[in-house]
Amino acid sequence: QELQMNLEQIEKDGYDHFMLKEIYQQPEAIKDTYRGRLHANEGLIRMAGVEDNLQRFLNADRILIVACGTSWHAGLVAEYIFEEFTRVPVEVEYASEFRYRNPVIRENDVVIAISQSGETADTLAAIKLAKDHGAFVFGVCNVVGSSISRETHAGAYTHAGPEIGVASTKAFTTQITVLALIALRLAQAKGTVTNSDFHRHLQELELIPEKVEKALETNDVAETIAGIYKDAPNCLYLGRGFNFPVALEGALKLKEISYIHAEGYPAAEMKHGPIALIDEQMPVVVIAQKQEHYDKIVSNIQEIKSRSGKIIAVVTKGDTQVRELADHVIEIPKTVDALSPLLTTIPLQLLSYHIAVMRGCNVDQPRNLAKSVTVE
Ligand code: G6P
Repeated sequence: QELQMNLEQIEKDGYDHFMLKEIYQQPEAIKDTYRGRLHANEGLIRMAGVEDNLQRFLNADRILIVACGTSWHAGLVAEYIFEEFTRVPVEVEYASEFRYRNPVIRENDVVIAISQSGETADTLAAIKLAKDHGAFVFGVCNVVGSSISRETHAGAYTHAGPEIGVASTKAFTTQITVLALIALRLAQAKGTVTNSDFHRHLQELELIPEKVEKALETNDVAETIAGIYKDAPNCLYLGRGFNFPVALEGALKLKEISYIHAEGYPAAEMKHGPIALIDEQMPVVVIAQKQEHYDKIVSNIQEIKSRSGKIIAVVTKGDTQVRELADHVIEIPKTVDALSPLLTTIPLQLLSYHIAVMRGCNVDQPRNLAKSVTVE
């Protein structure tokens, strides 16, 4: 027992929890994900699983993405990235729904299954169904040699290293990294991205690890904000565009480890329901990056403010407009819109981590949850 405890301490590497360690590993993990694949200076992306099956990808009329939990959120980010760059229609589905709802699957569909563990029962079943219908199935897994990596026709590992904390962190950002690489490579092959955009995105992707490093410096601010809202019974997360799925993921992280009820919403949908919840008790986390539709998010923030909601805004460094309206701001570096989820996610992970710690929750092993769900 004592030996076990000591081993665990060593594995935690000086961090209080695996989750925190894994949050801080993200700059390295993302580098490990793109190492050997991203060649920004040469303007090249090389991924064997994609190159070997390039025709299948290029012939696809659409891409279906199946996953569960946090991996499903990575799939949603991927939908925005794929459609933006490749102009191929993408549908993202919960594997548990896909497998039982008699979905339309065609032979020239490409199905991408995303799974950290590679063992999730629903995702595995969705893959089998897609294969039975003749689709080409591509896996994005973290665990090497896992069931899903074996069941798929081809794939790309995330190479994030072992993720022990039940709440997924580095798996999410590395999944987005792999999927962005695939989308950009396909866009290049299809000619649906300009040369300069392609190069700019490769260069920005290469810079992401150092920008994540900067985003991790928001830890103290996140801890202070956590101290103020740790007893809130509810919390709302809002984002738009590429950052709408980040709002969902932020809310999921808070639910999972702190047991605070949280909901993620596309910011503009707020007026169709959640706005009724807003009063002076309600913290609202808004991802308000200086990017496309910035003015729209600013007006969403004004709507919250006029109803006395408490605004915690994740802004781009140097932002002044949102700062004037928000109760708290968390500044992160600027990057291209499509890659911004890799940065905006970081302070949300830290915020839920600190809230959970302050509430005395078991951060690494939250009640009722399992790291991989191998049964239905
Ligand atoms: C469980 C875990 C989540 C994870 C989900 C999907 O619910 O607690 O963190 O996102 O399964 O897992 P997978 O291994 O397929 O990504």
